Amino acid sequence: METNQNRVNFGSKIGAILAAAGSAVGLGNIWRFPYETGNHGGAAFILIYLLCIVVLGLPIMMAEFAIGRHSRANTAGAYKVLAPGTPWRGVGYMGVLAGFLILSYYSVVAGWTLEYTWQAVGNGFAGMNAEGYTQFFADFSANPWRSLLWMLVFMLMTHWVIIKGVKKGIEKSAKIMMPVLFILILVLAVCSVMLPGAGAGLEFLLKPDFSKVTPDVFLGAMGQAFFSLSLGLGCLSTYASYFGKDTNLSKTALSVGLIDTLVAITAGLIIFPAAFSVGVSPDAGPSFLFITLPNVFQMAFGSVPFLAYIFSVMFYVLLALAAFTSTISMHEVVTAFVHEDWKLSRTKAAWCVTIFCTLLGVFSALSFGVLADMKIFGLTFFDFLDTLTSKVMLPLGGMLISVFAGWYLDRRIVWEEISNNGSLKVPFFKLYIFILKFVAPIAIGFIFLNELGLW
Ligand code: PFF
Repeated sequence: METNQNRVNFGSKIGAILAAAGSAVGLGNIWRFPYETGNHGGAAFILIYLLCIVVLGLPIMMAEFAIGRHSRANTAGAYKVLAPGTPWRGVGYMGVLAGFLILSYYSVVAGWTLEYTWQAVGNGFAGMNAEGYTQFFADFSANPWRSLLWMLVFMLMTHWVIIKGVKKGIEKSAKIMMPVLFILILVLAVCSVMLPGAGAGLEFLLKPDFSKVTPDVFLGAMGQAFFSLSLGLGCLSTYASYFGKDTNLSKTALSVGLIDTLVAITAGLIIFPAAFSVGVSPDAGPSFLFITLPNVFQMAFGSVPFLAYIFSVMFYVLLALAAFTSTISMHEVVTAFVHEDWKLSRTKAAWCVTIFCTLLGVFSALSFGVLADMKIFGLTFFDFLDTLTSKVMLPLGGMLISVFAGWYLDRRIVWEEISNNGSLKVPFFKLYIFILKFVAPIAIGFIFLNELGLW
C-alpha cells in the first residue's frame, strides 16, 4: 500500500482550503439548499442548518481530516493503516462506493448545467414563456442523446483535471475556479437583491418562522449539512491525505464550513429575491433551477434583455463551475483508491473510474426518459441512487467516522493531528472528543432511523 511520506501534497495552505471548499460548494448549495429552504419555511430551516454545521459538520470534518492526513492514504487505505486487520476498512470501502455512485448521477445534473449554459450563451431562452421552459426541460431531460452527451462531456472534463494530478490538476483548477465562482455569486446576489419587490424574498430568507419547525425540518437540515459539506464518504479525508504537516486542521475545517455556508446563503440571496420579485413560489422542488428560474430571470430583467441575457449566462456558468469542483473531488476519492489499492497507474485508474462511472450514469440519465418506468423500490434509478447515498450511506458513514475517531482511534493520534504535534493550542479538545463520542453518533443515529422510517 502506498502510504509513504513522499506522497504528493497540495502546494499551499490556501490551495488546500480552496480544493476542499470546491468539493463542498456544489449543486448541493445552489440547487438543493434553496429548495430545501423553500420547502421548510425559510430562515427557521437555515438556523437549524447552521446548528447542524457547527455541532455535527465541523467535528466530523476535522475527524476526516485527521484520519486522512495521519494515514496519508485513500479513504479505504486509511483504515487499513490506522486499524489493520479490523472490519473498519469496510467504512472506507463504503465511502469509495458512495463516491462512485454519487459521481454517476451527479454528473447527469452537472451535464444539464452545461446544456443550460449553452442555451443561455446562445440566447436560447429569450422570449420563452413559462410553458416553454417546462416543455424545454421535459424534452431535453427525456432526450437520451443530448443529456448523455453533456454527461459525457462533464465526465471527460473531470477526467482531464484528475489525470493532471493533485497539484497541477485539482489544486490549480480550484485556485482558478473558486475565485471566479465567488465573484459571479456576489455580482448575481447584488443584482437580484436590487430588483423591485425583492424585499419579500429577503424577508423569507432572513425572518425565521418557527411554526414551520417539525422534526422533519431538523432531519432535513442534517441531511443537507452532510451532503453540502461532502461528509461521510471520505472525500475530505482523501483531500486531507494531501495536506501539508503545517496545515491547521481546525482552521481549515472552519474556513471550508464558512465558505460553504456563505455560498449557500448567497445562492438563496440570488434565487429568493428574484423569485419573489415576479411572484413565483420558491418551493417548486428540484426542477426549480431548470424550469422556474430561467423564466424568473427573463421576467425579472425582461425590460432590459441584455441584463436578462448576462444574468442567465453568469448563473449557469456559476452552477457548472460549482458542480465541476465537486465532481473532481468525487472522482479523486475513487481514483486514489483504485491507484493505491489495485496498484494501477494513476492514469489507468482514472480511466477505469471515468468509463465505469459513465456507464452507470447512463442509467441515471435515461431514467428521465426511456427508463422512466424502470423502478427500484418504487424509485427511478436516479432517485434510487440519490436516496441510497445521501440518506443511507452518508449518514451511516458519518456516524461510523465519528465513532472511529472518538472511540477506536488512539486519542494521541487525534490530538497530534488537531494540534499539529502540540504546536497549536486546542482548548476545545475535550468538548471535541465528547461530540465525536456521543453527540454526533447519537444525533446521526436518529436521522438515520428516521429516514428509514424505523423511528
Ligand atoms: N458537497 C457537494 C455539493 O454540495 O454539491 C456534493 C458532494 C461532493 C457530495 C463530494 C459528496 C462528495 F464526496
